[in-house]
Amino acid sequence: MDYLPIFVNIKQQHCLIVGGGGVAARKADLFIQAGAIVSVIAPELKTEMKHHLSEGKITWNIGSFSAELVASISVPKYVISATDDQAVNQAVYTYCQQHNIPVNVADQTQYCDFILPAIVDRNPMTIALSTGGRSPVLARLMKARLETMIPAGFSKLADLVGRYRQKVKDSISSLGGRKAFWESLLDGSFIDKAVHGNFNEAEQLLDNKIKQLAKTGQLEPTGEVYLIGAGPGDPDLMTFKALRLLQQADVILYDRLVAPEIIDMARREAERIYVGKKNKHHSVKQQDIAQLMVDLAKQGNRVARLKGGDPYIFGRGAEEAEVLVANNITYQVVPGITAAAGCSMYAGFPLTHRDFAQSVVFIAGHQQAGASIIDYARLANSGDTMVFYMGVKNALKIQQSLLEQGMNPNTPVAVIEKCTTSEQRDTICRLDSFVETIATKKVNPPALIIVGEVIKVRERLKPKYIE
Ligand SMILES: C[S@@+](CC[C@H](N)C(=O)[O-])C[C@H]1O[C@@H](n2cnc3c(N)ncnc32)[C@H](O)[C@@H]1O
Repeated sequence: MDYLPIFVNIKQQHCLIVGGGGVAARKADLFIQAGAIVSVIAPELKTEMKHHLSEGKITWNIGSFSAELVASISVPKYVISATDDQAVNQAVYTYCQQHNIPVNVADQTQYCDFILPAIVDRNPMTIALSTGGRSPVLARLMKARLETMIPAGFSKLADLVGRYRQKVKDSISSLGGRKAFWESLLDGSFIDKAVHGNFNEAEQLLDNKIKQLAKTGQLEPTGEVYLIGAGPGDPDLMTFKALRLLQQADVILYDRLVAPEIIDMARREAERIYVGKKNKHHSVKQQDIAQLMVDLAKQGNRVARLKGGDPYIFGRGAEEAEVLVANNITYQVVPGITAAAGCSMYAGFPLTHRDFAQSVVFIAGHQQAGASIIDYARLANSGDTMVFYMGVKNALKIQQSLLEQGMNPNTPVAVIEKCTTSEQRDTICRLDSFVETIATKKVNPPALIIVGEVIKVRERLKPKYIE
């Protein structure tokens, strides 16, 4: 280890920044945030530092660095030199060495007693990242990754946990017991509740756990279920929350529409169970899937139920949630990008547009002919963009019904297969010919049929370099 990471309390301590430019201002900002009294020595200040001055966050000692000028202000605890002038930086370094003051010369590790890490700030939780001064850019990249993984609300979580620390100490005497208590809580939905500001529910969970422990002397396994929308295929379309919950799950239940790359994002030790269905031959019955989730959660597992697209759009997610509620299982639902959004976007057109369509309707297109509950008369006259999910097998019925209701045979239709994946195929045709297209192109599921004038926008949106 090149440097020992320590967190120093500099509240009300005098710190000195030499330099008035942007780098100096950003370093000053860190010291200000940590509560230091910041003095700046510089002949002039650039915009950012002027801003600190106008807000009363620094005092400005006008002039070039000299031992006399430093002597005229309070002895600093820490010094930063961030000037373009190597001679000044060198003089600051020498001065600090002589006076035993830790110093950091920006971008010159050989003149640094300490370095300032990249910081992920979830006050009171702080993550400091350093490459030992070798590559601040790499540290910033890592910081960006961590920023996306750790929700902003973690600050609130740390506060809440801090408030309960004593109460838990009073209830659980052994260190091991307290560790197990916090581990069991900080792994599950308690975190999400607190992070998203549902403090009442989070506190309720905490209180229940403490009571349970007092009553039974042990922590019962508390599993939970995450109904996660995995999007239409491209793993990059998962949300941060989906990824986070997937990575903390012990068991993954997934179906046919979930891309293997997404399942690979789970922890290596997590058990993976395929519960996919194929149209008409269900490999695992819906009620059996729901029961499996309940059983696994009751055994104390965190269960991620991955669903293609969005769990609540033709995904039967709500039915599964109902079973969880009936069995008193804690659960969360994470929205996903539904196939309609993925297909239209990746095929190059929007679903609504001021000039073409003011509304969009999602339709389950797999109803049996004759028993249809789809109101084709309303649809044909609505001007809505129509998105038929599961409609390929029923394409003929859809086509005939819309034509019978007087829709223009020229109306554009997009048939889009396996959208957002490397196997995506999209075909733009007409209302009176799309059934033929489906047959000749041998369209395979999953595929979506989109009907509407809005498809014409695709031509306008084609980048010029593609022509
Ligand atoms: C049972 S529904 C599930 C929909 C999913 N919950 C969603 O929000 O996208 C399955 C249908 O969604 C459509 N679908 C799902 N993923 C698709 C994809 N990647 N490309 C085209 N259509 C897709 C197909 O119409 C498929 O028959």
